[in-house]
Amino acid sequence: EQLNPKTFALQGKNILITAGPTVEKIDAVRYFTNRSSGKMGYALAEAARDLGANVTLVSGETNLSRPLGVEFIQVMSAEEMFNAVKSHMQEMDIIIKAAAVADYTPKTVLNNKMKKQDGNLTLEFERTTDILKYLGEHKEHQYLVGFAAETDNVEEYAMGKLRKKNADVIIANHVANSAIGFKSNDNEVEMFFKNGDRVLLNKESKKKIAFKILHEITSRWES
Ligand code: CTP
Ligand code: CA
Repeated sequence: EQLNPKTFALQGKNILITAGPTVEKIDAVRYFTNRSSGKMGYALAEAARDLGANVTLVSGETNLSRPLGVEFIQVMSAEEMFNAVKSHMQEMDIIIKAAAVADYTPKTVLNNKMKKQDGNLTLEFERTTDILKYLGEHKEHQYLVGFAAETDNVEEYAMGKLRKKNADVIIANHVANSAIGFKSNDNEVEMFFKNGDRVLLNKESKKKIAFKILHEITSRWES
C-alpha cells in the first residue's frame, strides 16, 4: 500500500476497543453467553493499528487469534470487561464498544455443579453495569462509539441509544439478516452521529467496513 498522510490517520492516538461476547457463570460448569464472534471488534482493532493507533483490545472469549501489535486484555464477564475499560478510559482518545455485553448476570453463582430436581428451574438474574452508559456519563475528551444490534425498528432504537448513552456515534446493524452480523465475515451498518449525520456502509467484509468506520470517525473529528 502507498504511503500517504491518510494511511496514518490515527498516528499516536490511543484507542480502546471491546470485542466478543461476555460469559456469565451460573455454576461450576455452566454459563450464560451470546453468539457474538468478535470479528467486527477484532477487524476494528487491526484497522486502527494499521492506521497508526496505539490499540488496547479488551476481548471476551472468541475463537479468533490475537492481533499482533495491540495490547490485549482477556476478560470473561461483563463485570471484568467493565473493570478493564474503567481502568484504561482516562488515557484513551477513542473508545469503541463492539462487544456484545450481557445485560443480565445470575444473581448467585454456585461454586459446585448444580444438581437437578423435580419440576422447573427458575434462575434469578440481575442487571450488569451498562459500560457505554457509564462512559457517556463520565467522559471528558473521549470520543465514544457504540454499536446497536437490532432485529427491528433499527433507526428508532439506535437513535435512542445514541441519546441515552451520550455516545458520539452509534453503529447499527440488522441482526435479523443472517447474511450479515454476528458470525458472518460480512457486515452492513448504518452510522448515526450525534450531529445528525447518517452514513450507510453497504455490505462488505468486516475488514473493509472497519476501515470505513474509522475513516468516517476521523474525518468528522478533524473538521
Ligand atoms: N453495552 C455496554 N454495556 C452493557 C450493555 C451494552 O457497554 N452492559 C454497549 C454495547 O457494547 C453496545 C451498546 O451498549 O455498544 C448497545 O448495546 P445493545 O445490547 O445493542 O443495547 P442495550 O442498551 O443493551 O439495549 P437492548 O439490549 O435492550 O437493546
Ligand atoms: Ca443489550
